[in-house]
Amino acid sequence: MIGKNILVFGGSGQIGRHLIRRLTNNNHQVTVATRNSHSKGSILKTQGNPGYIEIVETNIFKEENLNNLIKGKDICINLIGILFEKKKNTFNNIHKNFPDIISRISNENKLEQFIHISALGIDYAKDSLYASSKLEGEKKIINNFPKATILRPSIIYSIDDNFTTNLMSLLNLMPFFPIYYNGNTKFSPLHVSDLAEIILSIIEKKICSEIIECVGPEEISFREILEKLLFSIKKKKILIPFPIFLAKLSAFFFELFPKPLLTRDQLRLLKYDNVLSGDYKSNIDIGYTPKLRFEDQIKKYSYMWRDGGEYSK
Ligand SMILES: NC(=O)c1ccc[n+]([C@@H]2O[C@H](COP(=O)([O-])OP(=O)(O)OC[C@H]3O[C@@H](n4cnc5c(N)ncnc54)[C@H](OP(=O)(O)O)[C@@H]3O)[C@@H](O)[C@H]2O)c1
Repeated sequence: MIGKNILVFGGSGQIGRHLIRRLTNNNHQVTVATRNSHSKGSILKTQGNPGYIEIVETNIFKEENLNNLIKGKDICINLIGILFEKKKNTFNNIHKNFPDIISRISNENKLEQFIHISALGIDYAKDSLYASSKLEGEKKIINNFPKATILRPSIIYSIDDNFTTNLMSLLNLMPFFPIYYNGNTKFSPLHVSDLAEIILSIIEKKICSEIIECVGPEEISFREILEKLLFSIKKKKILIPFPIFLAKLSAFFFELFPKPLLTRDQLRLLKYDNVLSGDYKSNIDIGYTPKLRFEDQIKKYSYMWRDGGEYSK
């Protein structure tokens, strides 16, 4: 395939780093927009051969910057997302207003594809601001760029995630671990390299005008995820079901910190299963069956949290 000119927003994040490597390996020229080229530049520059990555520092709230970035590109991929709000970075600004603007500009500039990463389960989690803002954002995108492809992934994991690695650190430190809703919420964890392959195949097969749910090869509950992580780091900890009023109270205090461990909005989101809904196509329907199983993959890095390992307490 002839390489495309691809603009990636949020390319320095977990999914972005893995995706950019795949894109450049497949001959695509990637421009990454970041808020801070000084801190993110060194990570981003190593994700492709010289000449394949351009890094542009930008303020995503300035429309003229966005116009200049999008002009002349073939494809725009939006990976910007937040889990908690901070000043101007509200859910509405990041998940709704920003995708609204870039999808409109992408349409005005006649881009071939607009690929947006949303999240699984947002139709149901109506009481979560994260979910409702993602849903509103999707509607704006479809209205502005009807050919857009929207991906709704379940939880994404990898050696450099904020999910399994944080959980293993907490499981290491705490004498017991609180679980919410009895740990029954189901997830379909997808390895980040599988998601990067799915995005690549959307580009190669020119898949447009679809909402696609992206899931891994298994459905496992939050309790099972913790049990698998504990088994993998060879630790025994008691998992204690936590009453929701206590969880809400602790989340309220966590929210006072700059990077909260848990927010009340995340707690609301955790009530809902994060698995295929059956209402949309999935990665399997577009020909991509995920290969990597949760237990096999975490084994490759969990040793660092075992006794004597770099992150063991
Ligand atoms: N990871 C998951 O498990 C998961 C699951 C479902 C859906 N998703 C969605 O997938 C997308 C990518 O997720 P990810 O895990 O890769 O995210 P991430 O690691 O948190 O990275 C997000 C990126 O967004 C950019 N960003 C955040 N706030 C910004 C702001 N105010 N202005 C400009 N840029 C901002 C950051 O780039 P700079 O700092 O370089 O500007 C950051 O690299 C998100 O929309 C997320 O909601 C993720």
